Order: sequence, then C-alpha cells, then structure tokens
Amino acid sequence: MTGPTTPKRAYVETYGCQMNISDGELMEGLLAEQGYEIVRTPEEADVVLVNTCAIREHAETRVLGRVSQLNGLKRERPDMVIGVTGCMAQRLGATLLEQAPYVDLVMGPDGYRSLPESLDRIAEQRSASRKAKAQLAVLDFDPSESYQGLEQLHADGPVAWVPIQRGCDHRCTFCIVPYVRGPEKNRSAAEVVDEVQRLAGRGVSEVTLLGQTVNSYRFEDVSFPELLRRVSRVDGIRRVRFTSPHPNDVTPDLVEVMATEPAVCEHLHMPAQSGSDRTLRRMLRRYTAASLLEKIDMVRTAIPSIALSTDIIVGFPGETDAEFRETLALMRAVRFDEAYTYKYSVRDGTPAARMPAEEFVDPDEAQARLAELIDVSRRVQAEINAGEVGRVEEVLVERQGRRPGQVLGRTRRNKVVAFDGDPVAVGSYTQVELRHTTGATFVGAEVAGVLAAEAASA
Ligand code: SAH
Ligand code: F3S
Repeated sequence: MTGPTTPKRAYVETYGCQMNISDGELMEGLLAEQGYEIVRTPEEADVVLVNTCAIREHAETRVLGRVSQLNGLKRERPDMVIGVTGCMAQRLGATLLEQAPYVDLVMGPDGYRSLPESLDRIAEQRSASRKAKAQLAVLDFDPSESYQGLEQLHADGPVAWVPIQRGCDHRCTFCIVPYVRGPEKNRSAAEVVDEVQRLAGRGVSEVTLLGQTVNSYRFEDVSFPELLRRVSRVDGIRRVRFTSPHPNDVTPDLVEVMATEPAVCEHLHMPAQSGSDRTLRRMLRRYTAASLLEKIDMVRTAIPSIALSTDIIVGFPGETDAEFRETLALMRAVRFDEAYTYKYSVRDGTPAARMPAEEFVDPDEAQARLAELIDVSRRVQAEINAGEVGRVEEVLVERQGRRPGQVLGRTRRNKVVAFDGDPVAVGSYTQVELRHTTGATFVGAEVAGVLAAEAASA
C-alpha cells in the first residue's frame, strides 16, 4: 500500500522506559519513510500517537488523562486520528476503544510494522462512510516479528539506544511485560552491528544495547558477550552500555568481556527486586540474596571500579516487615550507586495479582517501607558520591545544561556531571574534576585545555 499523497503530519508522545522511547523512534521512522512529516506538538499533527507504558497503575492513569485531554483537540479538528500504542494498548485492547470512543487505533508493540497501513485503513474507512466509526485494534502477538529491518529515527546527539531484543521469557510474578510484549525475540547480530556502524558514521560514540533481559540475548551462534564484544570494536564507538540485564545471565563470560573491552563502561544494572529469599522465590526471580551477592563479588573482583545500580520493589504481596528489613540489609551490604525503588503495583493477569487478598500489604505500610528504603539508598549514594569528589573523570558532553554556559555529561560510571562549557562541546570527551555532589549528581570543572588539546590533535 502506498503512503498518503498529501504529506500528513504525525506526532508521537512516549511514556515509560527506554525501550518505549526506542519504539517511539521506530514509529517515527516508519511514518517518515511513508512520507509523513514528524512534528513536535499534537496541535500541528493529523495523527497523534500516545505510546504507553503498563508497568505500574500510576503510568496508566497518567496516560488515560492525557488521551482524554487530546480529545479536546480532536473536537476542534474531527479529522484528527488518535492512536494509543504500546504496552497499555496491548493490555487494555478493545476495552480501551469502548471506554474512550474517540480513540481510533489501539496497537500493541508487535503491530508497529503495520502502522502506516493501519492508518491508511482508518482513512479509507472514514472516507467510505463519514458517519461510521473507523476504530481499529491491532493486538496480535507475532512470534515471527523480530523487528528485523525496521529503522528507528534516532534522535540527534552523541548517544544512541539500540534495541537488540524485545519481549521476555521470564515470568516474574509481579510483572506485566511478558503478557504485553510476548516472548523474547532477538535481532540478528549482523543487523545490530550494522546499525551501530551507521550510528558511528553519523557521529554517535556511545551506544546502549537494550532488551528486557538484554544479557540473555542469543542469535544463532552469537551470545550476548560476543555481541557486546563486536559492538565495542566498531570504529568510532568509545562507550558501550547495556540495560536491563537479568542477574542470572551475568556470567563469567560476560564479566570477562566487560573487563577486557575498553569501550564497555564500568557500570552494571543488577535488578535485585528484594533481599529476602522467600520473597525472591515468590517473585520467581530464580536467585537468592546470597547468590546475588556472590555474583556482585565476582563482578567487583574483575572490575573494581564498577558502579552498580538496581531496581527494588517493596510491599510485594505477603512481604513481612522482617523480609523488608532483609532488603534494607542487602542495600547496605552491596552499597548500590543508584537504586530505582518502587511500591508494588497490582497488574491484572499476573500471578501475584491472584494471591489471597489478605496477603496484600497495607498501602500505608508499603508507603512507609518505600520511604525508609529511599532514605537508605539515598544515604548510601550520597556517601559513595562524596567519596568521588576530587576525582578527575572522562566525561562525554551530551547536551546543554539548564543554565546558559553550562553543559551536562556523564562519566563512564554513569554519573551525571554539570560544568561550565560551550554547547559546541556536545559530542566531545573531556576530563572533568568532580568538585561537589548534590548527592545524586555532580558539579564539576573541566581540567584546563583538554577540549582545546583534543581539537588540535583531531
Ligand atoms: N527487565 C525489565 C524490567 C522492566 S520493569 C527491564 O527492561 O528493565 C522495570 C522495573 O519495574 C522492574 O525491575 C521492577 O523493579 C519494577 N516493576 C515491574 N513490575 C512492577 C510492579 N507490578 N509493581 C512495582 N514495580 C514493578
Ligand atoms: Fe519482567 Fe522479570 Fe521479564 S521483571 S521483564 S518478567 S525478567
């Protein structure tokens, strides 16, 4: 099917994780290829897509509010098309079309390849009958959809995110992802490397490989450590990161590649979720607190300077106060550089949602646990970062700061640093002295003359 004859304007608004941001760029790429102009506000657009997240209830209520707000625009311009895509679209499906009759399209992640065609179908149905409602739901899982050959419209800048895997074969009992993104699907290694080469050709020097359990990646005979090695060796790539790994697939092979490939950054996300073995078992995480600590020891022995981050859930159904204290103990034992902390949110259709009602943790209790956990993790983070003040670190200048004359970048250990600099420096590497920390981030000062020296040698 051919694209529209008069150029149409499309706007994609994305919520949620980095994978979703990449999916948003993928939809933009697909639409641009079909002749759509990609615009930056819904007011300018003929097609508005809200690319949604389903991970916690809060994410969904936010989006529902936003979609009804967009309906205000549609009242003024009835020809507008509103689409809801992504994980929440997949989860709520046709119910969403009933509840929000002004939504024209719901589409789950496996449907993106057919996005331009689906929009054409809506346009055809509309022109066939002015009155008929032309709602369309594209919600089938496609086990053969490996997202091969789909080009993402990468945002400009020196850093890029490259999805190498979609879906998940785990069944953590709290998590909706396997039900909305289907089983694990991996892209071909050749295609991934090719994309990274093209990005490098455009001036990208840092890539982050993305997947739900990114380190379980395998395509034919290429394992994740091998792919990581290949990507690290692409000309022009100076930094490689990956997220989110599953702790069980943090293997000696992976650690070896991380320790020996100079481009792989000294940062690892280790989503622990809990420090209690009983809770971990009931979450179906397939490791214990002790085995996680052993893994972390292995990583730290091989890469002493590694920074570690984690995800933790409090108030999982049945979690006792004593079990929560075990999570606090794990946090103190590991001393994570950064912790993303969540209060358990019930997701219909997941095993944890079917646990007996009396198991559910009282919301006030869960809130109190979250506050205590945040307090511990922030304190640890502030102590670690205070210990880094005075160091000189390599920083990739990523963007202009909030204040004119200020730029923002990250160290290899993934710490954000703000310092005085010219926005023309975006994309370059420089040495920055970490002068002080706000707790989570740093304010630094460029070591004199580094950028000038680099420019001279380039
Ligand atoms: N492996 C995935 C995990 C996605 S969800 C990835 O790519 O990151 C990110 C985090 O959200 C999880 O690690 C977990 O800590 C949290 N989370 C997932 N489901 C949740 C739920 N029902 N309630 C609260 N937090 C949840
Ligand atoms: Fe979710 Fe567990 Fe997979 S957290 S994405 S089911 S590894």
